[in-house]
Amino acid sequence: MTGGAGYIGSHTVYALLDRGDRVVVLDNLSTGVRAQVGTGAAFFQGDVADSALVNKIITDQQVDTVIHFAGSIVVPESVADPLAYYDNNVVKTRTLIQTVVEAGIKNFIFSSTATVYAEDAPQPLHEEAPRAPISPYARSKLMTEWMLEDVSRAHGLRYAILRYFNVAGADPQGRTGQSNPNATHLIKRAAMVALGRLPQLDIFGTDYPTPDGTGVRDYIHVTDLAAAHLLALDALRGGAGSTTYNVGYGRGLSVRQVVDAVEKVTGKPLPARVGPRRAGDPPTLISDPGRIKAALGWKPGHDGIDEIISSAIAWEKRFNR
Ligand code: UFG
Repeated sequence: MTGGAGYIGSHTVYALLDRGDRVVVLDNLSTGVRAQVGTGAAFFQGDVADSALVNKIITDQQVDTVIHFAGSIVVPESVADPLAYYDNNVVKTRTLIQTVVEAGIKNFIFSSTATVYAEDAPQPLHEEAPRAPISPYARSKLMTEWMLEDVSRAHGLRYAILRYFNVAGADPQGRTGQSNPNATHLIKRAAMVALGRLPQLDIFGTDYPTPDGTGVRDYIHVTDLAAAHLLALDALRGGAGSTTYNVGYGRGLSVRQVVDAVEKVTGKPLPARVGPRRAGDPPTLISDPGRIKAALGWKPGHDGIDEIISSAIAWEKRFNR
């Protein structure tokens, strides 16, 4: 697994260890945290584009599947420095895929994003909805999807592409969570405000074509997302063909609904300030999760927004005490 010291990767490591799987993590620790890699996973610090290292790990550890989480994920950062995003997310991933193909690996699971869809695509978003990513981040993810499709046709590598909707929350047992201090995600920032670590939450835009004017997203608990990876892994190992899956609940919540839910969870008002739209934010992103439910039997287990928020706050408290 690449990026196993990161937010979603570290949850997936725990999910795999919890059921007794053997896990090997490669992470360069640029944003990941070594202490969040579950004990029991083999850990290597290094780069996904270091072919010699990756090849040695695959051979020595008898790896049969690569789950590729490593990548840069901050949308505004990608707008400011697109070449860094294309390098880290596309160029390095191309090298990784080459190493994987040459090593004879059969299965590849890739983290993609709901932001690959066209802004005017019908909601909820089906996997076949038109793609027209706007940010360099989202384009870098779609480019990698294309590479995998082509490589799969040419070399027989089988893939599961998971298009994540808005991932939030933290491990219910408090073992890991979102630790990147620069994360710009709504629920992470709301948790920081709730704990007094930020003075207030900025609400980015109240003039969207949504019921209350604020942006609508399909927030999904990271534990349910980790579970989706395990199901995709089992399907590939069982011989399933290459498939792309949305991972979201199929329900949208507005920024104001999230703020209300935080206030309900904490029992305190959440200081918030209305501001202009953030560049590049679409009004609404809601998943049609029909495919992953039907094909993999994925069932949300932590979809209450209160649970998502309270786990995010609990982690935020524990982290950076
Ligand atoms: N928002 C605020 N204030 C904040 C942060 C966010 O009002 O401080 C709003 C945004 O405008 C948007 C919603 O809350 O309407 C969600 O924003 P996030 O930053 O939490 O998430 P995004 O939808 O922008 O993007 C996230 C990840 C991407 C991923 C995408 C998939 O950052 O990596 O989800 O949907 F691709």
